[in-house]
Amino acid sequence: MYSDQIQISNLTLINSPSWFVHPVYSSNIIVNGLTILAPLNVPNTDGINPDSCTNVRIEDNYIESGDDCIAIKSGWDQYGIKFGKPSEHIIIRRIK
Ligand SMILES: *[C@@H]1O[C@H](CO)[C@@H](O)[C@H](O)[C@H]1NC(C)=O
Repeated sequence: MYSDQIQISNLTLINSPSWFVHPVYSSNIIVNGLTILAPLNVPNTDGINPDSCTNVRIEDNYIESGDDCIAIKSGWDQYGIKFGKPSEHIIIRRIK
């Protein structure tokens, strides 16, 4: 949360009980070269969820998830609307 210049690269992440990678209120983020593995029958195991984040590049990742592989968010329901920080300038490419 509240971070600038985050890079998460070249890791294998296995069996998170919930969302794997979840930057919040952050900017200038690169997430690449990840292999994310969750069983396809386990719910809520989203892969990468930029949440109220700006300038995000998500590329060259392999994701198996029981829920969303990538979900762009801007907070949670009425709390997100009240806080009012959108996600902007997101690039997503070469996801398998
Ligand atoms: C991640 O792996 C790629 C491919 O091997 C390599 O080009 C890149 O430099 C690596 N990134 C980091 C931050 O080590």
